[in-house]
Amino acid sequence: MKFQSLPLVERKRDGEALAAQEIDDLVAAYVAGDVPDYQMAAFLMAVTIRGMSFDETAALTGAMLHSGRTVEISARRPLVDKHSTGGVGDKTSLVAVPLLAALGFCVPKLSGRGLGHTGGTLDKLESIPGLRTSLDAAEFATLVSRYGLAIAAQSEDIVPADRLLYALRDATGTVASLPLIASSIMSKKLAVSSRLILLDVKVGSGAFFPDEASAAEFARLAIRIGETFGRDTRALLTRMDAPLGQAVGNALEVREAVACLRGKGPQDLREVAVALAVEALHAVYGLARDEAGRRAAEALESGGAYEIFRRWIPSQGGDITYLEQPDRWPEAAAVGTFTAGTDGYVSRIGARAVGEAARLAGAGRLRKEDSVDAAAGVEILAPLGTPVRSGQDLLRVHAASPEQLAAALRRLDASVEISDEPPRAKDAVICAFDKHGRREER
Ligand code: URA
Repeated sequence: MKFQSLPLVERKRDGEALAAQEIDDLVAAYVAGDVPDYQMAAFLMAVTIRGMSFDETAALTGAMLHSGRTVEISARRPLVDKHSTGGVGDKTSLVAVPLLAALGFCVPKLSGRGLGHTGGTLDKLESIPGLRTSLDAAEFATLVSRYGLAIAAQSEDIVPADRLLYALRDATGTVASLPLIASSIMSKKLAVSSRLILLDVKVGSGAFFPDEASAAEFARLAIRIGETFGRDTRALLTRMDAPLGQAVGNALEVREAVACLRGKGPQDLREVAVALAVEALHAVYGLARDEAGRRAAEALESGGAYEIFRRWIPSQGGDITYLEQPDRWPEAAAVGTFTAGTDGYVSRIGARAVGEAARLAGAGRLRKEDSVDAAAGVEILAPLGTPVRSGQDLLRVHAASPEQLAAALRRLDASVEISDEPPRAKDAVICAFDKHGRREER
């Protein structure tokens, strides 16, 4: 007889806590193809609405982790991993991973695709022609040992449960759930033998955690899961009310990340990438944060981190000429702008609206089987605080078709606020949580 998942769906719907063995069996049966998508989607929705206890969340993490093999990497340098809970314009990994490698760490990173209105590192990387993110465990480990970094997708042999559940959640409105996000992220991080796991927990309208309280709850939950599995896990809470940087959309974001790796690029992106590097240098080598900050800034300014990036991209098949000759990138089929209705200062750029507009333009998926358009997205022409005049272009939308352009521009209505006074500038990093889940100011 096939595995009976319906009773588990119904019990979760009614708010019951499931036993670890039941969660294990459900995940194993789903990965084996014995649970139909519609029942798993119903289970995910029940979890999204009802939540899970800590024991259930840890069991789900373990079940997902053990759905595949774990990757042991032998490297002479300390292994550090970083993961974001998801944001709009969040290309931090493209900067932070080579930066960490330039600072003497090895970074084996399993990433995800776009989820909901947020972008995914894999989609961004795959906008570089030729670049492959489907690596088997052996190739992944070899690349990390040889180049100091690799970014790969979940696969049939590494956390296959997350590969399947991630795509299903994206298409069923079941992304924004604390236990589902925690188990998805931590199963990927625990699958690789990293000594330190750094989480970038995004807070704000463009994140899955709208306020500091829910983000802090997530950070403590993920850190506790890390502790349960014997891993040093730490978190930064960073702002996501406005998009990070000025580019949202896959190829647009790669170009902005390259600018940052060359010592330019937007200040907020640089601040988050440097803050993550500082945490790693402090946690692993005990370096004072000021000194760590100087070393990280120097690795960006000297071009050291960019050199690592240039060597790494071809190791995964990517064509490096696109990084050096931006004119080679294909243009989107339809381009249009969103303009200011009044004079003043840009005081709000709604990250969720911009993320949803980018998805409608073709940068993300609305169905599991959709493909993304590498060139689609939104450029922010007037960042927060810019003085603007009525009629001035604020956002430029790059869309896969004229219909998608029109839908994206409609979604941007009311996404930008213009005020008489400039807004107060805020640091991108709010605070940190140490490996015991204790809050620390930054
Ligand atoms: N990143 C992940 O890997 N999973 C989530 O659920 C959210 C962000």
